[in-house]
Amino acid sequence: MSESLNPQPPSASAPAEGAASYTPPKWRTEPRFPDGPAPDPAGSHHERRIRSFQPRRSRVTTGQGEALKRLWGTWGLDIDGHRVIDLKAMFDGLPVVLEIGFGMGEATAQMAAADPGTGILAVDVHTPGQGNLLALAERGGLTNVRVANGDAIILLREMLPPDSLAGLRVYFPDPWPKARHHKRRLIQPEFLDLAATRLAPGAILHCATDWEPYAEQMLEVLTAHPRFENTRADGGFAPRPDFRPLTRFEGQGLDKGHVVHDLLFRRTDS
Ligand SMILES: C[S@@+](CC[C@H](N)C(=O)[O-])C[C@H]1O[C@@H](n2cnc3c(N)ncnc32)[C@H](O)[C@@H]1O
Repeated sequence: MSESLNPQPPSASAPAEGAASYTPPKWRTEPRFPDGPAPDPAGSHHERRIRSFQPRRSRVTTGQGEALKRLWGTWGLDIDGHRVIDLKAMFDGLPVVLEIGFGMGEATAQMAAADPGTGILAVDVHTPGQGNLLALAERGGLTNVRVANGDAIILLREMLPPDSLAGLRVYFPDPWPKARHHKRRLIQPEFLDLAATRLAPGAILHCATDWEPYAEQMLEVLTAHPRFENTRADGGFAPRPDFRPLTRFEGQGLDKGHVVHDLLFRRTDS
């Protein structure tokens, strides 16, 4: 596995070598909502690793803040990197799909409502979205959604057992259009190496993007990866499956005239 995904093990108490002098700003270390998500619980800011997201402090509405305080203890998961999760216990035995980067969570809530027989572990670092998804899940009486706070890489690498996922969804990951930022893109060979170990054989990795060059990159690296095979016999992009609702980010892309591409690849048995 590449250096970018496999640095020093995460530890909130022991910063990675070379980062000893780093003092995180207060907003990265102080809880914003009592009983809500812990700030950077895995201490990933101490890791010397290129991240696919930009840490930022975003405005949280009163409703989102209330939802975080009230519901996090029941439905939230802090990605602390210190334990392996029993997904069967967490989701009452349902098959579990991981969604990375759910944004504001509207599409996630819709998919959970439409398919109560599947558990969705939804991960993002975006606090307003976490509050929004919790509120949507409560309003919809959804018991098959859990909201995780932190870096999906640490969740996959440290906290999910091998072959444990029935699927992985990455909808409209940050496109990082500038050439010097391409290394931040999530869908890369190293990420696929890791994802392949956590997906069960036969499980589907479903990606979608409205950024043409990123779509081409996704198709190239997925096609080349020995542990994934395209569900499309023609080896190309897939039509949007009915179960994937229009996402917020997708809507913004369509408004700009972007073309959306879906990719559905199966983890092979090997
Ligand atoms: C462009 S938004 C798309 C959101 C949503 N899927 C949509 O289509 O509206 C990408 C999201 O991925 C999240 N993200 C990026 N890298 C991540 C990571 N490594 N772990 C968790 N979330 C991540 C960002 O915080 C952001 O909310």
